[in-house]
Formats: sequence, C-alpha cells, structure tokens
Amino acid sequence: MYLIAPSILSADFSRLAEAVALAEQGQADMIHVDVMDGHFVPSITFGEKLVSDLHEKTSLPLNVHLMVDNPEKLIPGFLEAGADWLSFHLEVTAHAHRLVQVIKEAGRKAGLAINPATPVDLLSDILEELDYVIVMTVNPGWGGQKFIPATRNKIKTLSRLIAERHLPILIAVDGGVKLDNLSTLFELGMNIAICGSSVYDTQDPVATIRKMKMVASEFNQRIPTKT
Ligand code: DX5
Ligand code: ZN
Repeated sequence: MYLIAPSILSADFSRLAEAVALAEQGQADMIHVDVMDGHFVPSITFGEKLVSDLHEKTSLPLNVHLMVDNPEKLIPGFLEAGADWLSFHLEVTAHAHRLVQVIKEAGRKAGLAINPATPVDLLSDILEELDYVIVMTVNPGWGGQKFIPATRNKIKTLSRLIAERHLPILIAVDGGVKLDNLSTLFELGMNIAICGSSVYDTQDPVATIRKMKMVASEFNQRIPTKT
C-alpha cells in the first residue's frame, strides 16, 4: 500500500483549514500533524484542540506525530481529540509497549517514530505490536530540511525485517520527501510518504499532491503489497 500524507507543518498556520482542504482536493490519503513540545524538539506547534477542530472539518484521517517528552501524558488527550493514527518517539520512553497498547485499545493505529541515529534493531521486540513505523530521514523539529542519505539503508533494513516476519506494518518516511525521490523511496520500502515543504511550499499544492498520488498509484498497481 502506497499513500501520500501532506504535513501541515509547512502550511500557513493562520490558514490550516485551507491547507487541509487543499490536501482533500489533491486526494491525499491522510493529513500529517506534527506536535512539538519545545522540549524534545525546540519548537512548539499544535495541541489537542487543533486536532479536534481539524477532525470536525475533514474526513481525511489525521496522522498525529508526537515529537514530545512524556508522551504518556498527552496520548489520552490526542486520542480523545480524534487522532486516527498516533505515533510517539521510541527515544523518549521506556514504556513503548504499554503506550502502544493504550493507542490500540482506543481502536486507533499505533506507530513508533525513530530518529536518524536510532537503529532499526531497537524496534525488533515491539514490531509485532505496531501498525506503522515513522523513519525520520531528517532530524525532527523543522520542515524543509535535506534528506539524510544514510537513512536509506534504515528503510531497506526495516522493510526486510517486516517482510521476513510477514507483518502488516507500514513504513512512513518523514523528512525531505519530494516528488523527485518518491519512486526511489517507495522502491526501498516506504509505504507512507510524509511531505511538508515539498507540498505546501510549491506554487500549486493541489497539483503537487495529484502528481505524488499518480506515482503512488503506479506503485499500488504494479507492485504486490506487503499486507
Ligand atoms: C519534521 C516533521 C515533518 C516535517 C517534514 O520534524 O516531523 O513531518 O513536516 O517536513 P519536510 O517534508 O519539509 O521535510
Ligand atoms: Zn512528522
């Protein structure tokens, strides 16, 4: 399965509903919402209310990426706000297993995100519990950064691990994903392309998403899915 998830981190924060509407027009598969707490990463972005308000405005699933310390304190609120997909970082907690259960018990998709320097192997004993993994291909905290080439191997390694165990886990890639590298990344094993600046910093975000969707649909048609 190959999906496109525009990240509203690169949109105009005073016009977020419009940014979501553009994603709908482009027939994006979901909206990626980056939550930053000013601790785990330096910036502060969105809270539960934004997720709840967007949830009312769109039928697209909200893929909420918590870049926060102490995710256990925030997960219940974001579940209540309507996060359809909810991920937190492996680096911030010793209790990933328990938190993943909290998300799954609420009937939502549970994901773990890993930073560029965090080895894929650390996911080995929790992989079976996950619906998806976010492989960070830039250091978390900012949109518009350059894709870190060494992370390509991580996508490949993770993809192989998932295939070997026949698991229905999707790989989301976050950071520096754009039209130019979309095919290469899908070939490496990416299922969900998280695209911020490559969508919202373009002249015509709708046209850009449509082009990305065309690439994804080629892959959906010609390559057998992992699920
Ligand atoms: C970065 C965020 C990303 C961000 C990606 O910390 O997690 O979701 O929106 O931005 P681009 O696509 O511009 O690299
Ligand atoms: Zn993100």
